[in-house]
Amino acid sequence: MASVLMEDIAEMLVAPGKGILAADESTGTITKRFASIGVESSEETRRDYRELLFSTEGLSKYISGVILYDETLRQSTKDGVRFADLLAEEGIIPGIKVDKGTSLLAFSEDETITEGLDGLRERLQEYVELGARFAKWRAVLRIGAGAPSQYGLDTNAHALARYAALCQEIGLVPIVEPEVLMDGDHSIDECYAVTESVLKTVFDELYKQRVVLEQMLLKPNMIVSGANCPEQAGVDEVASKTIYCFGQTVPAALPGIVFLSGGQSEEDACAHLSAMNSMDSRRPWELSFSYGRALQSTALHAWQGKTENVAAAQRALIRRAALCSSARDGRYDPSMEK
Ligand code: 13P
Repeated sequence: MASVLMEDIAEMLVAPGKGILAADESTGTITKRFASIGVESSEETRRDYRELLFSTEGLSKYISGVILYDETLRQSTKDGVRFADLLAEEGIIPGIKVDKGTSLLAFSEDETITEGLDGLRERLQEYVELGARFAKWRAVLRIGAGAPSQYGLDTNAHALARYAALCQEIGLVPIVEPEVLMDGDHSIDECYAVTESVLKTVFDELYKQRVVLEQMLLKPNMIVSGANCPEQAGVDEVASKTIYCFGQTVPAALPGIVFLSGGQSEEDACAHLSAMNSMDSRRPWELSFSYGRALQSTALHAWQGKTENVAAAQRALIRRAALCSSARDGRYDPSMEK
C-alpha cells in the first residue's frame, strides 16, 4: 500500500458505507475508560482490548481505517501478528495519532495548545515504516467567557497546518481535527459562530502552509447545543446548521469530512450523521464518521475485561459499526436500535 497516492488513501477512507474507527486513546484516556468498567490498565489489557476490536469479523465491511495510538502501532496480537498487519490484511487502513496532547497556552488560564511538533518529521518517518498510511492531530477549543480567543485560534490552527504539511511531505494523509468541545451551557448558535471562526482560521493556515486539500481529511465537531444548555437543538436543526456552516468554510477540493462524536450518545451520533447525508442540499464532500466513543462504548461495557465476554463485545462493535455505516449513507433510523 506504500505506493498508493495520498489522494487515493483519502478517498478510500471515505468510501461509500465506510468510516473510521478512532481507537487512538492515549494511555491516560484509555485508563479512564477502563476505570469506568473496573478494569486495570496495563500494556496487556490494552493489547487485549485492541485485539478484540481489530479482530472483529467483518469489520472491514463498515470500517475503512483505524486510528491507533503509538503503543498500539507497536503491539501485536497474542499470536504475534502486528496490529498494523492484521488490519491491512483485512483491508483496513492503519492510521496513527501523532499529537502529544494539550497543555495550557502561555498567558492563558483556560485555553490549550496541542504539543508534538518538535521532532515530528522523524517520528512520521518511523510511523510510515511501521505501516501507518494516515495520521491525526487534535486541537481542542473550549467555548467560555472570552474563549476561544483569536490568539487561541491562531496558534492552534498554525500547529495543525504545520503538522499537516509535514505529513504530506512524507506521504501520510493528515486528518486535521479542530474540536470545539460540547462542554458548557452555550447555545447551538454559539457553537456555530465559534466553529465557523475556527474553520476559517484553520483553512487560512492550511493555505498559507501549502497543504494540499485533495490529500487530507477534516475531522470536526458537529454544530450542536452545549451539553448543559437547557434548550437542546433537535436532529434536523443540528444537521442543517452543520451543513450550512461547512458550506461557508470548507473548500470543495476536500474529499471528505469525518465527524468526531465528542461525547454525543451513540444514537445521536448516528441520527445527526444520517440526517446530514439524507438532506437534499448541495455539498461537494463525503460526510462520514471517525468515531471513538460512539463506536466503542457498548463494546467496552460488554467486555468488562473478561475473555468470556469477547464475542459479545465484538457483536456490539459490529452492530454499532453497521449502524454508523447506515448513517454514513443516510439510511439510519432510530427504530434500527431495537
Ligand atoms: P470521539 O468520537 O469519542 O470524540 O473520539 C474521536 C477522536 O478521535 C477524538 O480525538
